[in-house]
Amino acid sequence: MTRIASSFDPKNPSIIYEGAVEYKLGTFDGSFIQYDLTSVARYLNIKGKLLFGKNFKLYDEDKELLLKLCSYFVADAHSCKEYDIDVDKGLLLTGPVGCGKTTLMRLLPHLVPHRRRYIVIPCRNIVFGFNGIGFKMIEDYEDTKQYCFDDLGVEHMGRHYGKDCNVMGEILISRYDIFKHKGIKTHITTNLNADELQEKYGERVRSRMREMFNLISFSSNSSDKRG
Ligand SMILES: Nc1ncnc2c1ncn2[C@@H]1O[C@H](COP(=O)(O)OP(=O)(O)O)[C@@H](O)[C@H]1O
Ligand SMILES: [Mg+2]
Repeated sequence: MTRIASSFDPKNPSIIYEGAVEYKLGTFDGSFIQYDLTSVARYLNIKGKLLFGKNFKLYDEDKELLLKLCSYFVADAHSCKEYDIDVDKGLLLTGPVGCGKTTLMRLLPHLVPHRRRYIVIPCRNIVFGFNGIGFKMIEDYEDTKQYCFDDLGVEHMGRHYGKDCNVMGEILISRYDIFKHKGIKTHITTNLNADELQEKYGERVRSRMREMFNLISFSSNSSDKRG
C-alpha cells in the first residue's frame, strides 16, 4: 500500500490532511478545540483503513469504549469527568485476545498529531532484549519518553546469565517513579484482569498500577477482529 503523507495545520490542529484531503475534527477558538465526535469517528474510520487495510472499521459493539478512548486522547474535560478518566494518568487497556487493543493504541494518537507520541513496544520484545543485554535493558526505560507496553502478561520471566528477573515488573516500578516525579505517562495493553496482574507482578506493582493508569476495558464479549 502506498502511504499517503499525513499532516496537520499547526495553527489549528483540529484540521488534519491525508494527502490533499482535509478532515476537520472540530472547531478551534484560538486556544481550545471543541471536537465533534461524528467527525472524529469519520476520520478514525478513514485513518484506520489507511493504516491497517480496507477491512478496518469501527465496531458498534465497541462504541462505549471508543467514546472513552476518544475523550481521553482529545482530553475533553467534560466527557473525561463523566467517564471518570484522568488525562494526567496513562491508559491500561484490557480486553480479550484479538479484540483490537493494539490496533487502537496505534490509531488513536493520530487524532492529536500535535501531541507528543508514545512508542508502542511488545513486552515480549523487551524481555528478549533483557535476556541478551541484561539490566541495561531495564535502565533504558527509565527515561522521559512515553511508552505503550503492548501485551503485558504474555512475556516470560527474564533470564540473563542465570539470573531470573521479572523484567516488566521492574520496569513498571521505574515507570511509576517517573510518573510520580515528572508526570510522564506510560500506557499498557493486556489480556489479563486485575487478579491475574497481581499474581504475575505482585501487590507492589499492582498498587502502583492503580495510581498510574485509567482502566479502560473492552467488553468481555467484544468480538475477535482477526479476519
Ligand atoms: N476495528 C478493526 N477492524 C478491522 N480489523 C481489526 C480491527 N481491530 C483489529 N483488527 C484486526 O484484528 C486483529 C487483532 O487486532 P489486535 O489489535 O492485534 O488485537 P489485540 O491487541 O486486542 O489482541 C489484527 O489483525 C487487526 O488488524
Ligand atoms: Mg495486542
